[in-house]
Amino acid sequence: MSEELWTAVDCYVTDALIASDADLAAALRDSAAAGLPAINVTPNFGKLLQLLVRITGARNVLEIGTLGGYSTIWLARALPPGGRIITLEAEPRHADVARANFARAGVTGVIDLRLGRALDTLPKIAAEGWGPFDVIFIDADKENNPEYFTWAIKLSRPGSLIIVDNVVRKGKVIDAGSTDPMIQGTRRLYEMVSREKRVSATAIQTVGSKGYDGILIARVNEG
Ligand SMILES: C[S@@+](CC[C@H](N)C(=O)[O-])C[C@H]1O[C@@H](n2cnc3c(N)ncnc32)[C@H](O)[C@@H]1O
Repeated sequence: MSEELWTAVDCYVTDALIASDADLAAALRDSAAAGLPAINVTPNFGKLLQLLVRITGARNVLEIGTLGGYSTIWLARALPPGGRIITLEAEPRHADVARANFARAGVTGVIDLRLGRALDTLPKIAAEGWGPFDVIFIDADKENNPEYFTWAIKLSRPGSLIIVDNVVRKGKVIDAGSTDPMIQGTRRLYEMVSREKRVSATAIQTVGSKGYDGILIARVNEG
């Protein structure tokens, strides 16, 4: 089993099940041309996000980590009329590319991009009275995942979904002695979720064109 095979299968799945979308393709092309790192979700993960928004009937979505807006466009395309996404990005250059990608995709009107460190913008979003969010997608600096998860619960309601990307990191997540802050952040996230009575959660390992990683999905419990 090799990354080459995972990539080939990802291409097969994408060709079979994911309709080509000129705006999404252009978003990736312009993100690359602007020098943004290729750390966006894959098309099949983008489609999964879209399906989760549709399955849950979500109207209000919060995304932490915009990059060039690739996943945001997937999420935006799933919203019902009147739906809205707040997406948080710390890098002005990433935000500029994302805004241009949103405009071309015709989704600017449903997206509120907040520039700044998420731990600074999240309290403002709460103070402004936004939320509860129906779906929250956490995909920024992994060191702060436990803090983002805490905010996600604060800004959710029973039935909300919280999705966290990159929770396996080539299997390094099981290394308790890791000094990598991203691994430490991810392990703290698991510890927190394992103790958190307000959510029911699982994590799934994934392989594909972005290598070996995984996602965590939590549903906020009733009561
Ligand atoms: C993995 S990328 C997001 C990819 C995007 N969700 C997609 O799939 O298209 C992570 C993004 O989080 C941003 N980021 C990193 N630290 C952040 C912070 N403290 N607050 C907000 N955004 C941050 C990075 O600049 C980067 O653009």
